[in-house]
Amino acid sequence: MNTDAGAHARTPAAAYAQAAEVAGRAPSIHNTQPWHWQVHSDRLDLLADTSRALPGTDPDERMLLVSCGAALHHAQVALRAQGHTVQVRPLPDPARPQLLATLTISGDEAVTADAVRLMQALQLRHTDRRPTVDTPVTAEQVDQLRQIAGEFGVHLHKLTADQVSELAVAVSRAEEAAATEPAVRAETAAWTGPDRPAGAGVPPEFIPDRRPETDVGEREFTARGALAVGGGHDKSSTYAVLFGESDDRGAWLRAGQALSAVWLQATVQGLALLPYSQVIEIDGSRAMMRRILSNLGYAYIVLRLGVADPDHPLPGHTPRLPFDTTTTVDPD
Ligand SMILES: Cc1cc2nc3c(=O)[nH]c(=O)nc-3n(C[C@H](O)[C@H](O)[C@H](O)COP(=O)(O)O)c2cc1C
Repeated sequence: MNTDAGAHARTPAAAYAQAAEVAGRAPSIHNTQPWHWQVHSDRLDLLADTSRALPGTDPDERMLLVSCGAALHHAQVALRAQGHTVQVRPLPDPARPQLLATLTISGDEAVTADAVRLMQALQLRHTDRRPTVDTPVTAEQVDQLRQIAGEFGVHLHKLTADQVSELAVAVSRAEEAAATEPAVRAETAAWTGPDRPAGAGVPPEFIPDRRPETDVGEREFTARGALAVGGGHDKSSTYAVLFGESDDRGAWLRAGQALSAVWLQATVQGLALLPYSQVIEIDGSRAMMRRILSNLGYAYIVLRLGVADPDHPLPGHTPRLPFDTTTTVDPD
């Protein structure tokens, strides 16, 4: 991936195509990668690809929008690392709800050290479901992440010890509800089991080989995992929630941008981040999360932050769909 300002000699379409390719590394619910990019000579369009939606698990498309928002932010990072100033128009056409955003290069700028660092973090970032080690997350680190989420109009609230106990209850209620929903079980199996689509889904090497001994239970995947979890706990983890004042498609897209921005910065800080979305997907536990927030806003996603085991790196990265599956280059 080219991160140097010399890339300006290339056409905007080439820069957009590269951004679409880089954005493919974004995190997504069950690694569904529910986005489609259209590269034009004067803009890059982000569309929802509902053929990879999860209607049983995610009937309102919340997590689809959050995933696409993360991809949108990844594309922004890629364009900035090429020395471009980017303008984003979210949901630009009410008549085309699947068109989630349009990105336009509006000028050129010097490539900053921060832009390069974020681009490097984007290539390193991954989901680590192993319990974190005993090193706590500092208040300064949380403050920095809070500020970054705020740039997208999204609040990051660090849960207190009492609220973490309430979160544990909400998470286990969500787990119980999901376990009795055949459509949810079928989707989890389809995306994380042996018949998952090529280039997508979660392979066993990234799923714990047994339930980690944590107070807040992790998402239960139907497939048996092959990731050794070690003996860690979540005592030193920090739990936080991203939330905001509205609960609609625009808010979920922004939540995804904030999730990506927070995750990349956490990666720069040397922190591992694990998203918890089941507690938001299920109506009853989502209402519990709203009560935990004293009805101050709508919860978008829960985050576990902590320091990952430095001696046992994860076995590489989860797969991604080929570029020509997720991107169309329009000859206009
Ligand atoms: C919106 C969203 C929700 C997610 N929810 C969960 C979750 O509840 N539990 C979990 O273990 N991982 C969750 N993930 C992580 C994805 O499974 C992960 O991003 C995907 O498998 C790709 O792997 P990577 O992040 O290592 O690139 C979520 C990710 C996103 C973007």
